[in-house]
Amino acid sequence: MEIRDIRPAEYEAAQRLLIDNGFGHRVERIENFRLLIARAQRAIVAVTDGTVVGFARALTDGVSNGYVSMLVVAAEHRRKGVGRALMHALMGDDLGLTWVLRSSRPDARAFYERIGFVASTVAMERPRASPSRA
Ligand SMILES: CC(C)(COP(=O)(O)OP(=O)(O)OC[C@H]1O[C@@H](n2cnc3c(N)ncnc32)[C@H](O)[C@@H]1OP(=O)(O)O)[C@@H](O)C(=O)NCCC(=O)NCCS
Repeated sequence: MEIRDIRPAEYEAAQRLLIDNGFGHRVERIENFRLLIARAQRAIVAVTDGTVVGFARALTDGVSNGYVSMLVVAAEHRRKGVGRALMHALMGDDLGLTWVLRSSRPDARAFYERIGFVASTVAMERPRASPSRA
């Protein structure tokens, strides 16, 4: 397995992976997905035998703070360390940064706890308006 920056030729495969795993409302238009990648500091894939099996992106200053968004691993490749490897590639080894993320999926919360995240006592958010109000 290879973890590296996403290439333009892989955008549609990553988009499909996200749509198949419930992220459709934000990525269903390829133009939006291209912007989500272009404007993130990090957008990476896990590739096995030429197939995109994982995707993740992060917004970060690389110094103090980072936000992880859209982590996904193909169902048939889960529980093999791909998610952990993607998160490590996004966050690096510098423990001087605080990383945050949003997750309502119970399975994903268990995963994030396994790799060192804890529920915040200080985070606040202003959620985006729902698509129906847009
Ligand atoms: C969450 C997700 C990214 C995990 O990816 P993964 O490749 O299966 O995770 P890993 O194999 O790297 O697991 C790392 C650790 O988390 C644990 N873990 C992974 N999924 C878990 C789950 N559903 N429940 C409990 N623990 C879990 C693993 O057992 C492993 O623990 P270990 O350190 O004891 O070995 C993947 O299940 C996924 O894509 N889910 C759908 C999309 C999603 O929920 N994305 C994140 C929320 S936005």
